[in-house]
Amino acid sequence: MDASNKSKTATLTVGNKNYDFPVKSGTVGPDVIDISSLYNQAGVFTYDPGFMATASCESKITYIDGDAGILRYRGYPIEQIAEGGDFLETCYLLLYGELPTKAQKEDFDRRVTMHTMVHEQMARFFQGFRRDAHPMAVMVASVGALAAFYHDSTDINDPHQRMVASMRMIAKVPTLAAMAYKYTIGQPFMYPKNSLDYASNFMHMCFAVPCEEYKVNPVLARALDRIFILHADHEQNASTSTVRGAGSSGANPFACIAAGIACLWGPAHGGANEAALQMLSEIGSVDNIPEFIKEVKDKNSRVKLMGFGHRVYKNYDPRAKLMQKTCHEVLKETGHQNDPVLKVAMELEKIALSDEYFISRKLYPNVDFYSGITLKALGFPTSMFTVLFAVARTVGWISQWSEMINEPNYKIARPRQLYTGQAERQYVQLDKRK
Ligand code: CMC
Repeated sequence: MDASNKSKTATLTVGNKNYDFPVKSGTVGPDVIDISSLYNQAGVFTYDPGFMATASCESKITYIDGDAGILRYRGYPIEQIAEGGDFLETCYLLLYGELPTKAQKEDFDRRVTMHTMVHEQMARFFQGFRRDAHPMAVMVASVGALAAFYHDSTDINDPHQRMVASMRMIAKVPTLAAMAYKYTIGQPFMYPKNSLDYASNFMHMCFAVPCEEYKVNPVLARALDRIFILHADHEQNASTSTVRGAGSSGANPFACIAAGIACLWGPAHGGANEAALQMLSEIGSVDNIPEFIKEVKDKNSRVKLMGFGHRVYKNYDPRAKLMQKTCHEVLKETGHQNDPVLKVAMELEKIALSDEYFISRKLYPNVDFYSGITLKALGFPTSMFTVLFAVARTVGWISQWSEMINEPNYKIARPRQLYTGQAERQYVQLDKRK
């Protein structure tokens, strides 16, 4: 790579020919080589399954330095936002790029609050699901179905409709998530209560019943709000890339977010918190940890330490530190400080962080290591963990989708491949085949 000129270039040799490509620099972070003209110039593609070294887009929203353990939304460190802000302020920041003034914040909160109810017919739509449906299955279907109810916000070429769709999703996804939960436990749906803040309203819709007064615990609501902040965006992760990919064809935003929810469901992504808690419960006691670690290190076992490791963070995930703190706050408030699962988690973390296997591979706790224990203590069943992640990540998906649509020259996402199937061969009639 030649960095001597003002505009940097990278030279690639294919066969005996050299090709120059522009090198682009971001505000911070590694440079990228713009190889979009590679095929036209040299007749070859790059090969990078899993996007190990590929930037799929340009973005101004979230910055991660995985080696240093840094996460920033619009330039603000996650630690400062989580300590000082609330989730709706974070939503405003991600969507508009700046922190709101007091008046802007009030207006934004009011606009989101106005959209919290879902079309009454959605309740009948829910009746089609089995009662034992996984709430993520219900989320994929019901968020996608919003496109069938809100025709006045599906035109992606109209900026006003795009913004209304964004508001609707930030406001309605928690309502649908709470409905998915209530449906599986056979309780009546609770309408949103607009006098409550975002997290308190969500707890009310999940845990209140019509026949009793429900008082939201402010310590727990604040903890849930912080969990939402920590999960709000994470640059081009698998589900966000899915949302961008779906949106790149011009699909409506409700369909795109439903695609993101489907991707988030997998255990390597949003499903990891559920898997981490299950793993901790199965280990059961501190005495069983050495045996479990042995299994994780055994190449043939395919057992992973869930809640550990990350494609980008090769250091402690900054969200994991905040989540650990939140976990202690919640367990103290709910009187679960002596939860054996917490003891196992803390000991497991200590042992793994001093073990050569994990050190050499730079495997550290990620956000999901402590989130399962915290969500359980807040009263959510494991099947709802990924749903809560989806509630929080909705704003990140929308912000990224919106950024892409506002890009004047955005293109349909259409990767190429290394074809390793049969070369051309001749079709043989059925009666002539051996
Ligand atoms: N436990 C044990 N070994 C691991 C783990 C783990 N959790 N994660 C990675 N490794 C090993 C892996 O076997 C490989 O070893 P080797 O070099 O000997 O073959 C090495 O570390 C590199 O791992 P990789 O699979 O190539 O890394 P990746 O970047 O493809 O995978 C990951 C990242 C998050 C999918 C993976 O670390 C993992 O499966 N972790 C557990 C699931 C989890 O906690 N996911 C939540 C991620 S954070 C929330 C989110 O973004 O959704």
